[in-house]
Amino acid sequence: MKLLVTGGCGFIGSNFIRHVLGAHPEDRVVNLDRLTYAGNPANLADVEGDTRYAFVHGDICDAALVRDVARGVDAVVNLAASTHVDRSLMEPDEFLRTDVFGVFTLLEAVRDLKIPRLLHISTDEVYGSVEHGSSREGDALRPSNPYSASKAGGDLLALAYWQTHRVPVVITRSSNNFGPFQYPEKVIPLFVTNALEDTPLPLYGDGRNVRDWLYVLDNCAAIDLVLRRGKDGEVYNIGGGHEVENVVLTRQILRLTGKPETLIQPVRDRPGHDRRYALDSKKVQQLGWAPRHAFAAALEATVAWYREHEAWWRPLKSGEFRAYYARQYGRG
Ligand code: NAD
Ligand code: DAU
Repeated sequence: MKLLVTGGCGFIGSNFIRHVLGAHPEDRVVNLDRLTYAGNPANLADVEGDTRYAFVHGDICDAALVRDVARGVDAVVNLAASTHVDRSLMEPDEFLRTDVFGVFTLLEAVRDLKIPRLLHISTDEVYGSVEHGSSREGDALRPSNPYSASKAGGDLLALAYWQTHRVPVVITRSSNNFGPFQYPEKVIPLFVTNALEDTPLPLYGDGRNVRDWLYVLDNCAAIDLVLRRGKDGEVYNIGGGHEVENVVLTRQILRLTGKPETLIQPVRDRPGHDRRYALDSKKVQQLGWAPRHAFAAALEATVAWYREHEAWWRPLKSGEFRAYYARQYGRG
């Protein structure tokens, strides 16, 4: 297959491109990425010389460019997005632009060029907070922050293009990913790197919010399966099946880094903080997927990766990151 992957210099995108090039020697990948603060070419340094891989610096909202790079591909896999909830509370504009208008631009290109498949990557956050049980693909969308509302907008637009124009769209909605190359604003890499630096771990609210953790390589395998075997017009949940309260996760990180629990610093809660996400993943399991990495071992491997890759994350925690933090904690 020849793939156009958007957002390939981000966390999941870079892991996904590496997965595809490893698992499918005959495939070729073009990576279109705007290189926002979260996009890092270093995430793909090891595949740069691969003749099956090409990088294009650009924006998924640029219709002419998207048409240029999408011409002749067998599928588009959209991982380009603004992704951090806390940033969407302060600067929502960019979320609406990329996560809604960017999806629209891709849909128009796929429609116009008659590309056989658009796999759009979405999130469990579109279902909103789930007190009991787990979300199924047909459940109502009840997003509760500007990030998840923008993602829900992108999903609904994609499904509408399937209904009205039969644009061959497939959507995955996964739970919280963790693993190597995750930008250190997200809770696991933030807490691991803060612990390694002996700086406080800012735990929101009462620390009892629950996330369902999925190792990024398991998500990549699921995305790959849905890309090749998923059905047009369908949504597939991808849950890690490992729910953890934030405070429990924080203690595990401190244990793995050998640091004291006195580093935990309770801070003001995130406004509109969703209490719990949980996914029913039977549909993707019926396609033949199951997570292969046990949470404890994957978390240990992730902590080891950040310990061994200080040269990757240290520069990311200065400059833009410091300015973002000042804005976040200056707000109240
Ligand atoms: P990320 O923030 O690490 O990377 C996003 C990438 O998109 C970056 O490389 C960035 O430069 C690029 N990008 C942003 N705007 C762009 C634009 N307008 N044009 C081109 N490129 C642009 O994100 P991630 O965590 O890898 O998430 C990838 C996708 O998976 C997103 O759609 C996100 O909503 C979804 N998702 C993420 C998680 C998670 O836990 N990380 C869980 C569920 C779903
Ligand atoms: O659920 C999937 C979503 O997971 C993705 O769609 C998003 O792109 C991704 O950012 C992630 O969203 P969360 O808000 O769940 O992830 P985050 O890492 O920001 O926070 C995880 C939990 O940890 C959440 O309950 C908030 C809490 N937290 C987070 C940060 C950054 C803290 O307690 N302190 C922190 O400093």
